Amino acid sequence: MEFTAPAGTNLFDDAKIVGTSTRRIDGPLKVTGTAPYAYERHGVVPGQAYGWIVGAGIAKGRIASMTLDDARRAPGVLAIVAATEHEPVGTSDFNHAPLFGGRDIAHYHQAVAVVVAETFEQARAAAGLIRTDYDRADGAYDLAEVAPGAPLESERMPNRQSLGDFEAAFGAAAVKLDARYTTPDEAHAMMEPFATIAAWDGDRLTLWTSNQMINWSKLALGSILKMPPDNIRVDSPFIGGGFGGKLFVRADAVLAALGAKAAGRPVKIAMQRPLMFNNSTHRHATMQRLRIGAESDGRITAISHENWSGNITGTDGENATLQTPKLYTGANRVIANHTAQLDLPEGNAMRAPGETPGHMALEVAMDELAEKLGMDPVELRIRNDASGTVPGLPDKRISDRNLVRALREGVDRFGWAAREATPGSVREGRWLKGLGVAAGYRAAPTMTSAARVRSSGDGRIAVETDMTDIGTGSYTIIAQTAAEVMGVPLDSVTVELGDSAYPAAAGSGGQWGAASSTAGVYAACVNLRRAIGERLGFDGDAATFADGSASLGGESWAIADAGELSADGKMTFGDFQRGYDVGTYAGHFAEVRVDAYTGQVKIERMLAVCDAGRILNPLSARSQVIGGMVMAAGAALTEDLHVDKRFGFFANHDLAGYEVPVHADIPHQEVVFLDTLDPVISPMKAKGVGELGICGPGAAIANAFYNATGIRVRDYPITVDKYL
Ligand code: MOS
Repeated sequence: MEFTAPAGTNLFDDAKIVGTSTRRIDGPLKVTGTAPYAYERHGVVPGQAYGWIVGAGIAKGRIASMTLDDARRAPGVLAIVAATEHEPVGTSDFNHAPLFGGRDIAHYHQAVAVVVAETFEQARAAAGLIRTDYDRADGAYDLAEVAPGAPLESERMPNRQSLGDFEAAFGAAAVKLDARYTTPDEAHAMMEPFATIAAWDGDRLTLWTSNQMINWSKLALGSILKMPPDNIRVDSPFIGGGFGGKLFVRADAVLAALGAKAAGRPVKIAMQRPLMFNNSTHRHATMQRLRIGAESDGRITAISHENWSGNITGTDGENATLQTPKLYTGANRVIANHTAQLDLPEGNAMRAPGETPGHMALEVAMDELAEKLGMDPVELRIRNDASGTVPGLPDKRISDRNLVRALREGVDRFGWAAREATPGSVREGRWLKGLGVAAGYRAAPTMTSAARVRSSGDGRIAVETDMTDIGTGSYTIIAQTAAEVMGVPLDSVTVELGDSAYPAAAGSGGQWGAASSTAGVYAACVNLRRAIGERLGFDGDAATFADGSASLGGESWAIADAGELSADGKMTFGDFQRGYDVGTYAGHFAEVRVDAYTGQVKIERMLAVCDAGRILNPLSARSQVIGGMVMAAGAALTEDLHVDKRFGFFANHDLAGYEVPVHADIPHQEVVFLDTLDPVISPMKAKGVGELGICGPGAAIANAFYNATGIRVRDYPITVDKYL
């Protein structure tokens, strides 16, 4: 049922539970190890066997032969599904690289077999007995080589958008910057690997899995397995990190389903860690060129951002230009984004896809421009703040934007005034010290979201939706929303998530999850209030719900007296946002020190001042932002999937070789939320922050590194081999 907002007062004008720092209601399950993660759902179905995935040993070519006899005779083996004996399956609207692609190999570690056995060890041992011979073909693995027009020439890029006359304005500018930046391929490196238990019951399939988007998964599996999506149940109540890697169905789910069918038994698979990096998706490497021309007072007159990345299909690259038109003014501009074809594993969404590497170029270019202008880099950003309308989108107004306030507040809180403009001029013993700043922008998308809310007749409220909690706190903010709208204490609300049996929610992605799913729960609660009012004889829209009762005109009704009731609701956002551009904004600050002798970089402090509308739960929102800041520190200083350009794979494909930040790398982090409300995004006026936290801190760290050392490294990550 479509949602119609109650006329009159806004329910969230004086919210008491929503907006309050609240510990996770699922916290006890997590810290006691009893939260049911996919691989640990022991006994969810009887007779379950184990699967082991075999990955291709070449990046491109064809399987000449597979010898399976020894493996089939090995102890405990129940079934082997091999690519040479099975029709190719595994592309859908949601994934580009085949998940089980037959004899043709599109990328390294593409799944070529699943071995099903009584025990995990037996499956693994038998997989070692499979011999595969390949006819290897040549592939394209080097972005710098295949990006047509590289080094960048935007005239040759087909997806070029321009406004005014960039070349003329840039040519005439008093101060010009022209710089190139590269960012590497990066891995999600989530703690919990892809994992699935699959069980068939006739022609119906259940998957207990780890996935961010339940409804997308159901639809994708229906198309991959050529069966009606409604015959598939996907259940994913707890997820040990996803970062975009679990937006889509992966080989574990497809092969568990195929293996279970072949073995006639339920099958459990966790993708082996060494397969995680090449079998699945990653963030694409980029090559970017920024040209910015300004008047001597700092006003930008011309700005061009050109970006290349590569992907297995030659489409859907890493669009690093996304933030550029949103952050700064400039009447003359070029935005160009192009994707070359590469035979590496599939590039796809990773936390703030596009904006993460985009800020690492744009926000360093702004730092470089500020230095050329002899201006403070904060003041340069403030002078060019795009407010009112987005350049190039004159028919869209910006809904609520407080970037200038975020930067100014950061200046005060961080002690920015102490920054020495001359790089390399602050030294304490062996340490060179520096401060850096960057602005942050991330869109505030929303997705249609539905929920069901039940009132049980004893004052308790239960929420059911297929929304996921990827470690973000969805359970808690959904419970807060239901408690607020129904006027019951938080501990009277139970929340069930992640099951495709429940109404389809926004899912967790693109930082749309929190704002969208809670708005869907709000819609269902409004409908439940109406249903309670109808049963007890009052106007549910006009009544006030508090302390387990509804009151109106001096009368009062206990909601428990309505007995058992249930209401569905669905929020679609278009009516609210029409004509508006809705974004989130941040001021990011970092202090680093660099050992003058060894080149070691230590981050000292980080601060994010965030403008993201109503913050539903400051405690869990802070965790989201500092998580993004940690990933940004990795992107700036350590994370780098090394492409083996001869054989076409990521060489450092485990957590030992792919270096993510650890506790010792992460310093004091502070997060401040501005007390803003976005009047158009939804009735709750809340925006997401899950990706805002990674948009900008990498550049702030790079700028702090430059301020400390006077060395500009434009080729990420900033590792010692590049500057010592
Ligand atoms: Mo996000 S990269 O859409 O999980």
